[in-house]
Amino acid sequence: MQRNLAASATPSLSLSALMEREVVEPRDLIERGDRAQKQDQFALFTLPNYAEAEQAFVKLLEVNNLDENLDQHTRLQTVFESTVAAALAVAYSDEYQSDAAHLFLHRILYRINRLKFFWYDDLNRYTNERSLYLQTIRNQIEAAWQAWELSQLDAASLKRLNVVEILRDWSAADLDPELSDTGRYFQDEMTLAGYRKMLEIASLDGLVEASQLSRTLGGVANEIQSVMTRLLVEEYGVGKLARKHSTHFATMLSELGMSTEPEAYFDAVPWEVLATINHSFLLSERKRDYLRYVGGLLHTEISVPAAFSPYSAAAERLGLSAEAMSYWTLHIKVDKLHGRWMLDEVALPLVERYPHDAWELLLGYKQQRFMGDRAGEAVARAAKVADREE
Ligand SMILES: [Fe+2]
Ligand SMILES: [Fe+2]
Repeated sequence: MQRNLAASATPSLSLSALMEREVVEPRDLIERGDRAQKQDQFALFTLPNYAEAEQAFVKLLEVNNLDENLDQHTRLQTVFESTVAAALAVAYSDEYQSDAAHLFLHRILYRINRLKFFWYDDLNRYTNERSLYLQTIRNQIEAAWQAWELSQLDAASLKRLNVVEILRDWSAADLDPELSDTGRYFQDEMTLAGYRKMLEIASLDGLVEASQLSRTLGGVANEIQSVMTRLLVEEYGVGKLARKHSTHFATMLSELGMSTEPEAYFDAVPWEVLATINHSFLLSERKRDYLRYVGGLLHTEISVPAAFSPYSAAAERLGLSAEAMSYWTLHIKVDKLHGRWMLDEVALPLVERYPHDAWELLLGYKQQRFMGDRAGEAVARAAKVADREE
């Protein structure tokens, strides 16, 4: 959806339409005219072909030993890099914003990040896992994206708060919040088509659930590490595939005759959801951000029971079997416990261990809530489109 770029593709129309349809102050008109003209210039001369650039990148990913052989693929490299530059310019500027640019950048980031998981596929697919070229691209996108994400939160104010008190308050509130409009839609209105669309989107993370957590456990032993390990072991079904949480997700998909292949529905995933996945890749990889990662995970575990209740209610309303909703019912139960572990046995002990940096737990929590709500709204929008098309 190239919302702004597509809308600005007819230069003279937008201004004359403005003049005909509404009374406009001259100064407003000049400002709008300037903006439209800038957008038009961008749209007419540099409208990026994101699909072509993504395909070029996929080809680069498959090049054997990419770092050494990049100079043999300069055409692909040029197409790809010029599009990244254009997308960065529009995605994170107040002036343009563009869902298409956000989506392109997050799909690229995801394609790089996913190399950190093992998919039990062709081993040659991993030859570029540690490529410096891929790292450079990843860092370039992440730097602009993360600065933009942070600019939407008042991070500095968190430093002045009593971390223990706020963690307790936020956790209590998110354990039992009022039902949001988005939640009410999922619970009361979503059709079977919308429900399937929601499952498609959620499957990208659901089928590899808790994989990010596995990347944070290595290191010195202590009580905090032990609780995080216990959490992973539970998410991973105590070593029994049938009990692994991702298996419950696969069961939900098969009950509805949907594909259980990981990434089968990659194209259905909105950028807002990809952003939460890419954010988790980033924080789980950087030890410096361990407190932010834990803050985010605390929010996830605490908020899941309330967030999944509308999905479970929808499945019941739609007459689905107990198996077709087992992932929701399981999480509504166990994540109450996981949330308590994360608060009492991980986050609060970390406040004691890192009193000066403890505010970063709040940052991780707040950011996860913000990005999670944004993702939930995007899922609802996609599900509503599916409802209408039914
Ligand atoms: Fe889980
Ligand atoms: Fe959990």
